[in-house]
Amino acid sequence: AMTHTTAQPERSSRAATARPTVTLTGVQPTGDLHLGNYIGAIRPLADLAGDLTRDVYVFVADLHALNSRPDPAVLRERSRRLVAALLACGLDRPNVHVYRQSRVPAVAGMAALLNNVTAKGLLNRAHAYKAAVAANVAAGRDPDHGVNMGLYSYPVLMAADILALDADEVPVGADQAQHLEIAVDLAQQFSRSYRPGVLREPRALIAQTTATLPGLDGRKMSKSYGNAISLMAEPDDMRKQIRRIVTDSTPPAQPKDPDTCTLVALLRAFADPGTVAAVEERYRTGGIGYGEVKARLADAIDAHVAPMRNRYQRLLTDPAELDARLARGEQNACRRADRTLARTVVAMGL
Ligand code: TRP
Repeated sequence: AMTHTTAQPERSSRAATARPTVTLTGVQPTGDLHLGNYIGAIRPLADLAGDLTRDVYVFVADLHALNSRPDPAVLRERSRRLVAALLACGLDRPNVHVYRQSRVPAVAGMAALLNNVTAKGLLNRAHAYKAAVAANVAAGRDPDHGVNMGLYSYPVLMAADILALDADEVPVGADQAQHLEIAVDLAQQFSRSYRPGVLREPRALIAQTTATLPGLDGRKMSKSYGNAISLMAEPDDMRKQIRRIVTDSTPPAQPKDPDTCTLVALLRAFADPGTVAAVEERYRTGGIGYGEVKARLADAIDAHVAPMRNRYQRLLTDPAELDARLARGEQNACRRADRTLARTVVAMGL
């Protein structure tokens, strides 16, 4: 099922060529994936990759992660776990290329070149930087307090990720829409300043809000809200987390509205349609308690996640296997990015 809408119309030239559609996205290694990441981003990406006319490039944005200055050992470990999780969640397939951004030097090279077609004023207006400035001003500090160039030029590096890999389409959450606009902007600026046909303008695939999952407290599941259920938790821990989901105090016998219940929303994401329909019916007629729904939800999630968790754990205990997958992905990504960088360098007169 497609969970993305296209923000721009399909380019008509595409249909005429047999070249695969190149789909690219990056994930920051900020901590372990939760169920919301899986339903909102990873599973939709695996669905896109199920279409074999696509070549999918998915990378760990480890260079981006540096702007918050994580401990080196922590960053390295998070990157590894993220690679293992991506591979375990349906992205270990021939038309998917998993890589670490830092292992594709042409990306950093592209960012250095793009700096010269990036207006400083454009970056002044970027949401993340503006939010940091607003927080500083509100606290009576220097506007740029704690802001490093990694944070400030984050959108340039992201444009480099996309443009270097010559991507056609970029699936992202709504929070990344401005970053995609900046990437398109820089490609257009480059075409005007040098020549067209060197850098491809990417198309944004913005995730629909229906793909967002509620967390323990009913708000959108998010690491920053502290309401997340971790994707790769051990079964006992997973059940414990599910029992903590907040529900109201309607007694089992009384009818309930399935459309406002966090448990049903989660069940819809993981259980088969028959199970969901049966539970929804018992909500409307009355006669089902939240404890029972939680048990069914835990069963459904476990059935779905168990094979992925097993694969994840095997990959983490088999570094050679993980490294082999990365070597292939990184070689393919480098080949592609090197080609784009070579064109760009020449177009700029180097
Ligand atoms: N900024 C993205 C995020 O925080 C991650 C990212 C980095 C990315 N580079 C990218 C996403 C390129 C898509 C394309 O979610």
